[in-house]
Amino acid sequence: MSFNNLDQLYRSVIMDHYKNPRNKGVIEDGSLTIDMNNPTCGDRIRLTLDVEDNIVKDAKFDGDGCSISMSSASMMTEAIKGHTIEEALKMGDEFSQMMLGNDYEITEDMGDIEALSGVAKFPARIKCATLAWKALEKGTKNEE
Ligand code: FES
Repeated sequence: MSFNNLDQLYRSVIMDHYKNPRNKGVIEDGSLTIDMNNPTCGDRIRLTLDVEDNIVKDAKFDGDGCSISMSSASMMTEAIKGHTIEEALKMGDEFSQMMLGNDYEITEDMGDIEALSGVAKFPARIKCATLAWKALEKGTKNEE
């Protein structure tokens, strides 16, 4: 596939997550609620997780933001469900590497996340893409 086609594919994956977000909402009896905002634009996200025996049983997000932040949250909540906290944080590390333009490893479980790889070329948007992952990190670091 040429770079242009790949770019277009990635763009349509991002827009699909933005227009049809997976796991949008709030887990009412979730075990963790994390609020996070992007200081550069003020956009906010609320991440709720249901963690049982160190496994992310369910994950939902709510909030308003740009297509990059909302699609990233949608992809992230899909990716981490069914995984341990350590595995979810490892995914976040790989995502950070991808945003830094370094080598990274995206496993099959991480689904559509690679569609955001192009954001690395736009430093101003990296905070948008990492917003949900930062919320995950903030909420789960103490759970390890
Ligand atoms: Fe606010 Fe992207 S512009 S999160």
